[in-house]
Amino acid sequence: MKFFVDTAEIDAIAELNDLGMVDGVTTNPSLIKKSGRDIIEVTKEICDLVAGPVSAEVTAVDADTMIAEGRKLLEIAENITVKVPLTWDGLKACKTLSDDGHKVNVTLCFSANQALLAAKAGATFISPFIGRLDDINLDGMELIEDIRTIYDNFGFETEILAASIRSVNHILDSARIGADVITAPPAVIKAMVNHPLTDKGLDAFLADIKAADIKIL
Ligand code: E4P
Repeated sequence: MKFFVDTAEIDAIAELNDLGMVDGVTTNPSLIKKSGRDIIEVTKEICDLVAGPVSAEVTAVDADTMIAEGRKLLEIAENITVKVPLTWDGLKACKTLSDDGHKVNVTLCFSANQALLAAKAGATFISPFIGRLDDINLDGMELIEDIRTIYDNFGFETEILAASIRSVNHILDSARIGADVITAPPAVIKAMVNHPLTDKGLDAFLADIKAADIKIL
């Protein structure tokens, strides 16, 4: 399973990247706003840091302008993936850009039918939003399962990029179901290391190291 980090914060990306935890990055307008940076500048910095795909989202809502914006974003670096919303215009932009050989991430996916359309339009990635479905008492993981089944039924190569991840359990469940990629905030990826028995066990070992004065160096 590939790990994308869902942020435009350079330091947070660099820290995880140094540990080999970053297979790619996703950004969106809200994350760019949060960074307080210019979209082109910060996206270029991320692309310089990370070898894998970096999703940069268009701002337009009509297909022609989305395509023009996508082409401008693609000039930033070779590893840009153009992110478009799951609207009819977004699907048109997806088809044009993917026919031209570019990677496209279709975002704001909330149903399996939408995911089916995105695959047919040539999407490289489909981004189903788990957390936002859970927020309104729907089942985000059920959507990931449905998309996995449908894509496998027909051999679609579009990768399932589980997004809007809010907890470590979202990552675990996505891995169990077979999502190709998860994108999660740095804090959620880092929280995967936590276990109370690890802390308890380490405390006991440290006490014995002190009591027995065990030294290696
Ligand atoms: C990533 O591509 C999405 O834009 C992001 O995961 C959305 O997350 P949110 O629902 O927490 O804003």
